[in-house]
Amino acid sequence: MTHSGQKAPLEARKSGGLSGRARVPGDKSISQRALILGALAVGETRISGLLEGEDVLNTAAAMRALGAKVERQADGTWSVHGVGVGGLTAPGRPLDFGNSGTGCRLTMGAVAGSPIKAIFDGDASLRTRPMRRILDPLEQMGARSSNGAEGGRLPLTLEGARDPIPIVYRTPVASAQIKSAVLLAGLSAPGVTTVIEKEWSRDHTELMLQHFGAEIVSEPDGAYGRKISLKGQPELKGAPVVVPADPSSAAFPMVAALVVPDSEIVLPDVMTNPLRTGLIKTLREMGAQIDELTKRGDAGEPMAEFRVRASHLRGVEVPPERAPSMIDEYLVLAVAASFAEGTTKMRGLQELRVKESDRLAAAAAMLRVNGVKTEIVGDDMIVEGRGHVPGGGLVATHMDHRIAMSALMMGLASDTPVKVDDTAFIATSFPDFVPMMRKLGAIFA
Ligand code: S3P
Repeated sequence: MTHSGQKAPLEARKSGGLSGRARVPGDKSISQRALILGALAVGETRISGLLEGEDVLNTAAAMRALGAKVERQADGTWSVHGVGVGGLTAPGRPLDFGNSGTGCRLTMGAVAGSPIKAIFDGDASLRTRPMRRILDPLEQMGARSSNGAEGGRLPLTLEGARDPIPIVYRTPVASAQIKSAVLLAGLSAPGVTTVIEKEWSRDHTELMLQHFGAEIVSEPDGAYGRKISLKGQPELKGAPVVVPADPSSAAFPMVAALVVPDSEIVLPDVMTNPLRTGLIKTLREMGAQIDELTKRGDAGEPMAEFRVRASHLRGVEVPPERAPSMIDEYLVLAVAASFAEGTTKMRGLQELRVKESDRLAAAAAMLRVNGVKTEIVGDDMIVEGRGHVPGGGLVATHMDHRIAMSALMMGLASDTPVKVDDTAFIATSFPDFVPMMRKLGAIFA
């Protein structure tokens, strides 16, 4: 799915206290994995609460093109009938992943373990993102890539291995996408495929593989690392998946409620997997009033209902080892840091340079154009909070949903409005963002 090129600008204005209850959409990482594992399983996978954002819909279309039966039911649940491990069939057309690195990279892992050829493509943002990091281990496992641009960039052709080789792979950066691609290819390999990561990245693939019947062991490795071993050629069995609300989407109303005076909102069903909650930990260190009202669990993933109240925030230092657990939240944390009193130092942000946009540069630009002093020193970002934000800036979104949503949250509390040049990409992860925020009291024009 690609965008028409029509830009949809929007302005956020100083709003009165936000209030109410908002269930943000299903987690993107889990939605993507439910479709892909469902396609590799035998029997039916029933998914409730699937995120119906463009990134996930593109993955659903790719799984159909690779031979799985994927249908939305009248009651809003999704049903996937898979083809079994190694059973994907050659697609009759290029697979277009739009804006989604996760959809593309995890599907590369699945294709690498099937004896088929597929062309991978995406939008202008995805075409700039590095794929070598995925292709390197997949080629070690016997897959072959061709026709890619420099750095293995899209579009490219991937030919899966006829006889995949189980490997031991140390990921060069903490990346759940690399880890997941290797594990998905490893499903087709005889013997044990092992991934070792220096810092523990989100483990939804491991949890869901277990839920679908695979034998997988995850153990500590070094101070922050992890060693994951998967026994190849399992029979994956379709299983029900309940998708909790996405903490990375909840982050936007959460930060807005903290910085807009007199706010109090409730966010139900938010996933609290500890590998995803670095932002909440950081905000609490900054003085945020975020209460966990109830806790429960479903299909291996914990969740909670949060109450968030407007708070006086202070600057903090965020250590580099926390980055994997909040990698998608630094833009909105930079917004919170702008409204805090004092300096916030965020360390070890090199991976932000290769997200949907160069988020390190984009975050600094977003803050500076709105009158907030920001510096990038090496891989660190330093924000000088002064308790209020002048605003008045036009923020360039660079085809990046999270820049658009972060900038709009900033405008709800800044002295003068904040404008974004394009909100179209918000639909990749949070289709109802604007109406949901309006219901809580946000003023957009
Ligand atoms: C994701 C992993 C992260 C994250 C992305 C979703 C996933 O990327 O930024 O939005 O679902 O596996 P990396 O694993 O490349 O850090």
